[in-house]
Amino acid sequence: MTNKILVEPHVDAITMPENLRIGLMIAEHRKKCSNISCSFDYHGFAFGQSPFHVPAPLQKALAENVDNGHYSAAEGILELRSAIAGFNNRHFGLDVDPSRIIVGPGTKDLIHIIFDIVQGGVVIPSPSWIGYSPQITLLDKHFHTFHLKPEFGYRIQPDDLDEFISGLEGDQHTLLLNNPHNPTGVVYSKNELESIAEVCRRHNTLVIADEIYALTTYEIGNFTSMGTIYPEGTFITNGLSKDRSAGGYRLGSVILPDECSEKLIEAFTKVAATVYTNVSTPTQYAAVTAYSPNKEIEEYFRITREIHRIMGTFMSEGFNEVDGVNATTPHGGFYFFADFNELKNDLMRKGVKNSNELGHSLISHPHHIATVTGDACLLEPDDYGARIAFVDYNGKEVFERFRANPPKTMADEVEFVKQNAPRMVTGIAALKAYVESIKSK
Ligand SMILES: Cc1ncc(COP(=O)(O)O)c(C=O)c1O
Repeated sequence: MTNKILVEPHVDAITMPENLRIGLMIAEHRKKCSNISCSFDYHGFAFGQSPFHVPAPLQKALAENVDNGHYSAAEGILELRSAIAGFNNRHFGLDVDPSRIIVGPGTKDLIHIIFDIVQGGVVIPSPSWIGYSPQITLLDKHFHTFHLKPEFGYRIQPDDLDEFISGLEGDQHTLLLNNPHNPTGVVYSKNELESIAEVCRRHNTLVIADEIYALTTYEIGNFTSMGTIYPEGTFITNGLSKDRSAGGYRLGSVILPDECSEKLIEAFTKVAATVYTNVSTPTQYAAVTAYSPNKEIEEYFRITREIHRIMGTFMSEGFNEVDGVNATTPHGGFYFFADFNELKNDLMRKGVKNSNELGHSLISHPHHIATVTGDACLLEPDDYGARIAFVDYNGKEVFERFRANPPKTMADEVEFVKQNAPRMVTGIAALKAYVESIKSK
């Protein structure tokens, strides 16, 4: 009987997200290997989850709110939306009335709702975070891939964007602007955002500013929210998953554009009520603490972003030292992008025919390098590139060691990575061996 159940074609058109699939496979392998001895481990550069613990004040607040078992407002409880407004004001200089804030079960769901509600096609810069395009496919809507150029460090060039959007049909478009950017680690300057906003204004283009990595920007003073530059056209999404390491809590928020109509707020609220009713009420009450002024959480932001900077710098330099591989330098978040195109001829000769196969080839025996490549990053088949996440270490232990004895010099920082992230360090050696094997006759 079950074989006869017919599945809708738009569901068949998407696959299990590659990062989750590989992440689960590695977790399973490591679990098995804790009981029996295994001959190898993976270099886990595929799954980009914050490696740190949930900050203690947030854990405590969740425990204290277990009895809040009632349903709550679809848009989020007012205490939380007010706390989120205060947080955005303190950190990003945004002046937002709580009525423009909607709380959702992670920003992934909220981005999905924006795709659902807002008319027109979506412009997705590539390489891209792996979550956006399947959501649009699932909604039976369309997107346009806007290829970023390595010679410009994969930064959106306003003139290119202008030309690209000019060529699109339709009266309204939406640009996805992920800043800091997963997977390249690019952080946009205020001037760059102003130029991008100018293009968007000219072409009636809204922006989804996915700022989930904002507070992981290594030089935090360099981060500017698009909401301060293009307030009338920007949806800002952010949440607890990355800077507060609480991805599993499933809580994020969207700030609607400041000229948004009552109709848009109502549209959002009714879709939220229809799809998920409300975000878990205990989590919402706990999150009030996560968004309220708190010295311990501020220290947590400072320490974790420093660790990301140290790990990211070491790893991208290590990748760049491998002949034929060109890696971006991350300025925020916990990813960089590695370009393998210099090795294209060698890869083709060895039967690695496209970017999807690059991922399979890297993870295969004896290299075991887990990455995300190809379609998942919206790459062209002949664009050999890989997203590298640098979070494969025990975050809680590393956090405590950093707090007790922060590295003071560059040499200390190198030593810090070697001591605390050995699996990532040996991943660089594995990459060197992989490239040698690809180049060999
Ligand atoms: C760029 C980007 N946006 C959004 C998300 C989704 O985050 P959330 O846990 O809030 O759904 C992620 C998570 O991996 C991400 O990397």
